[in-house]
Amino acid sequence: MFERLELITADTILSLMAAYRADPDPRKVDLGIGVYRNEHGETPVPAAVREAEAAVLARQTTKTYVGPAGNPGFNEAMARLALGAEHEALVSNRVRTIQCPGGCGALRLGAELIRYASADSVVHLSDPTWVNHVPLLSGSGLKLERYPYYDAASGGVRFAAMVAALEQLPPRAVVLLHASCHNPTGADLSQAEWRELLSLVKRRQLLPFIDMAYQGLGESLEADAFGLRLFAAELPELLYAVSCSKNFGLYRERTGALGVVCERAAQADAALSQLVRLARGLWSMPPDHGAAIVHGVLTDAALRARWLEELDGMRARIQGLRREVVRRLAEHCPGRDFGFIARHHGMFSLFGISTAQVRELRAQQHIYMVDDSRMNVAGLRRENLEYFARSVGAVLAGSAGR
Ligand SMILES: Cc1ncc(COP(=O)(O)O)c(C=O)c1O
Repeated sequence: MFERLELITADTILSLMAAYRADPDPRKVDLGIGVYRNEHGETPVPAAVREAEAAVLARQTTKTYVGPAGNPGFNEAMARLALGAEHEALVSNRVRTIQCPGGCGALRLGAELIRYASADSVVHLSDPTWVNHVPLLSGSGLKLERYPYYDAASGGVRFAAMVAALEQLPPRAVVLLHASCHNPTGADLSQAEWRELLSLVKRRQLLPFIDMAYQGLGESLEADAFGLRLFAAELPELLYAVSCSKNFGLYRERTGALGVVCERAAQADAALSQLVRLARGLWSMPPDHGAAIVHGVLTDAALRARWLEELDGMRARIQGLRREVVRRLAEHCPGRDFGFIARHHGMFSLFGISTAQVRELRAQQHIYMVDDSRMNVAGLRRENLEYFARSVGAVLAGSAGR
């Protein structure tokens, strides 16, 4: 059966991680892997999460199954976190949530529901998008297309081109949108653009699938969910995937959820019953531990307040690094404007240098970023900002001179 299988090379991010680990140079800087890092280069478990975890372990007397939709308290708390506690769709009882193994699981399950509801659906992804969107969404058999999104020249969104492309789509086409902190570009839609997009989506009868993996790491819990909340209030149907990997630091606990918003409660019940059926064919039941922790954090006033403070701290660190790196780059790279980095949100920015320059940075300066120049800003530290900016300046000057 397996004798003719070919060995495939490791995914670029994984080989980048391996090369970074093997590099003995003390100046090395890892801007590749998409995890938050603090000033010491660590990815800590937030104190509120640790405390909630200790409480989970202290009161847990059994590890029997929780159920195919996961922890009901977690699902409810996640819907309120994503949409806001008083959201019209929640009050009207037209939202259902199913716990999933991370945002990845939610994306895949959402794709399965779309495929079941309408087998020849096409999902339209931004160009570029997070590389994992492709296997997660096409894995269920859906076709994928791209719509224009990022403008490398300005570091912003090509909104007019995006709108022009989406205007051409047939009814029921699926549009995958990043709620905030767009991965890999860091360039987000403004509130005015979300509003304009809403009228287009309504007019063309498109189905939005909103991926919210970084709530709280862009501008605020509320601002980062602006588009999702607007769409959920105004549209009869949408899907959204949420993740607790980054904002709760729960990466390996595989904690996330899929939300489905329908026109009426009865349709939402039917959609949830189908999601449960589909999940049984994928992972049967989601893992409990991370969801139990998040439930603990979100439903205890003191823990929630502490978590919010820690989340504010993470966001402030990223925003501070963005401003500071722009300032240093301006000193070391005259003639090149990196100001867009300070306008971007979340952990990532598409740095905008060539693959050859990315490789040169890696080989000569021990600075690791993905070949397309996506950099994880949170991988920088106050102490290596200067080294980073000087190294970029050297590589750009060298390349320009050749
Ligand atoms: C855009 C986007 N969506 C979803 C995810 C899902 O993450 P997880 O499966 O760890 O929750 C990520 C993680 O990097 C992401 O960047």
